[in-house]
Amino acid sequence: MTARLLPASEDPIAPDAPTPLTITVDGVLATGVAGQTLAGVILASGSLAWRRTSASGKPRGVFCGIGVCFDCVVEVNGHRDVRACLRRATDGDVVVSQHDLLPKPYEQSEQSEQARQPLRTEQAPQHEQSDEQTQSDARGDND
Ligand code: FES
Repeated sequence: MTARLLPASEDPIAPDAPTPLTITVDGVLATGVAGQTLAGVILASGSLAWRRTSASGKPRGVFCGIGVCFDCVVEVNGHRDVRACLRRATDGDVVVSQHDLLPKPYEQSEQSEQARQPLRTEQAPQHEQSDEQTQSDARGDND
């Protein structure tokens, strides 16, 4: 082994030629090579953002690049919330951007008012204990 620069043809760890792949991002073809993440392929295609925030609609793409922030989530082959920075692209992947809205505020309706009322039973409970019995149980007199 030598410290001098080797020609690529003599490099014993030279990688194989890259395998090209093609994915679809919102109906547009994007090309990459095997081993790239979806985010890498999308970024290489020229797109910096592929989803919008729920609250303000601001554009998001890759922020952390290591699977922590979830800014890069996309739908891949029908599976939602896939982090594009973590998933390796495979040939033929169909990527769709996600634009989720915030859930609607809880509406004050008559039905929801009923739901907040405590449950009432028509009959008195079958196993009522007298106050004396309850106090006796609490003291542990029956052990
Ligand atoms: S960029 Fe942060 S999770 Fe993908």
